[in-house]
Amino acid sequence: MRIIGGDVWPNGHPRQADTLRNMTTTANHVNQSQSESDSGELPDLAGKHLVLGLSGGIACYKAAELCRALIKAGATVQVVMTEAAGQFITPVTMQALSGRPVHTSQWDNRSAGGVANNMAHINLSREADAILIAPCSADFMAKLLHGRADDLLSLMCLARPAGKVPLLLAPAMNREMYAHPATQRNLAQLQSDGATVFGVGAGFQACGETGDGRMLEPEQLLEDIVAFFAPKVLAGQRVLVTAGPTYEAIDPVRGITNLSSGKMGFAIARAAREAGAEVTLVAGPVSLGTPRGVTRIDVKSAQNMLEAVVLLVPSASIFVATAAVADWRPAAPSDKKIKKNGSGHAPSLEFTENVDILATIAQSATGQSGALFCVGFAAESHDLHENAQAKRLRKKVPLLIGNIGPDTFGRNHNTLLLVDAQGSIALPRASKLSLARRLVGEIAARRVASISSPQEKS
Ligand SMILES: Cc1cc2nc3c(=O)[nH]c(=O)nc-3n(C[C@H](O)[C@H](O)[C@H](O)COP(=O)(O)O)c2cc1C
Repeated sequence: MRIIGGDVWPNGHPRQADTLRNMTTTANHVNQSQSESDSGELPDLAGKHLVLGLSGGIACYKAAELCRALIKAGATVQVVMTEAAGQFITPVTMQALSGRPVHTSQWDNRSAGGVANNMAHINLSREADAILIAPCSADFMAKLLHGRADDLLSLMCLARPAGKVPLLLAPAMNREMYAHPATQRNLAQLQSDGATVFGVGAGFQACGETGDGRMLEPEQLLEDIVAFFAPKVLAGQRVLVTAGPTYEAIDPVRGITNLSSGKMGFAIARAAREAGAEVTLVAGPVSLGTPRGVTRIDVKSAQNMLEAVVLLVPSASIFVATAAVADWRPAAPSDKKIKKNGSGHAPSLEFTENVDILATIAQSATGQSGALFCVGFAAESHDLHENAQAKRLRKKVPLLIGNIGPDTFGRNHNTLLLVDAQGSIALPRASKLSLARRLVGEIAARRVASISSPQEKS
């Protein structure tokens, strides 16, 4: 058995090296974020240094929360503000939150980046892993588009080494400003110039109008930024994930379900999207938020889940069956509530076996041809290795993931055993998101191998 440990991402993501580089200069922030993360895992942005640029918009109030979220996620943050941004939030607030002096002027002769050469626009951008403009005003986009450089932030964006320091934009403005052809033209051109433009939210705006143009919420931006830095090991793949329990109705008010929370499957969907895949998530009845950028389809029963999966499989290249699907359903659910009748006799229920979704898909022509790489999950109570290997062979899937049911249902952490034709790999106890990222790396490696030698699938 191989055991994978440590805190690197799959396929050599250089997070540890980055972390060591920054630890020497940012001990306070790294310590703070480590103490806030669970089970000693490195936080998502450990080792990343971001320049957070604020331009003039109401959404500057969200930039304060975003700054905190970035630091909590392990990043170090250098704030640079336009003059207009200073009308909406003070540099003092941003300095207190980032723990670093805020830069606002290209004429400020304070040492920046440890070099006292009066060139903050050069020094600040050279140390950054990315420049994030949040909020990015319509005016600032227009400036970027034309390569203008009459204030520190625009000057820094223009002077950054574009091949090394990506530019990330989080637009924020009134709905009419956002919809204006000039803004849309600028957004498209900035993207083709290499900038990454995050989406906008819809809803009530500070001006009193309702529509598109709100800056994304800090936690949404954080998820997008983490995804931006993730290695794109699943680029070009279309991943279909099932998650959660199913609910088999007995009557209109009662049913049979299980304690699966959906957390493992949702984490896999998020990790696959971070890795560059187009992801569809078929979710049983759970109360979890949809990961950013993932298409979600809610279903209730095993039959509903099967129907959704059968429809979606033809456009998928990887199928990860994480859902804890009920094996049986009541044979004849009542259309009225089954009531006590005073006889003291409990009703007896007859059951019908549900179709095995994973086996059906894995043993279909698509599954067996190698066009679809199938991954199954087994929730066991004992003899994990033997049970997982037996289930893998029975279902005819190239990769099966074993976990202990009571140790995973509803929990934020888990332990996984990956079983394939070569043997098994144990992923020690970690957060489900961390395990999902490692699993995605393992799936990506096997997917590539299965395309080059399809006969070795099982
Ligand atoms: C109260 C108020 C709110 C504003 N909110 C926004 C906004 O949300 N988005 C935007 O693009 N511009 C907004 N503006 C206009 C910008 O602040 C203005 O275009 C400014 O010149 C931008 O400067 P900068 O891009 O250098 O930061 C607002 C202006 C005012 C007076």
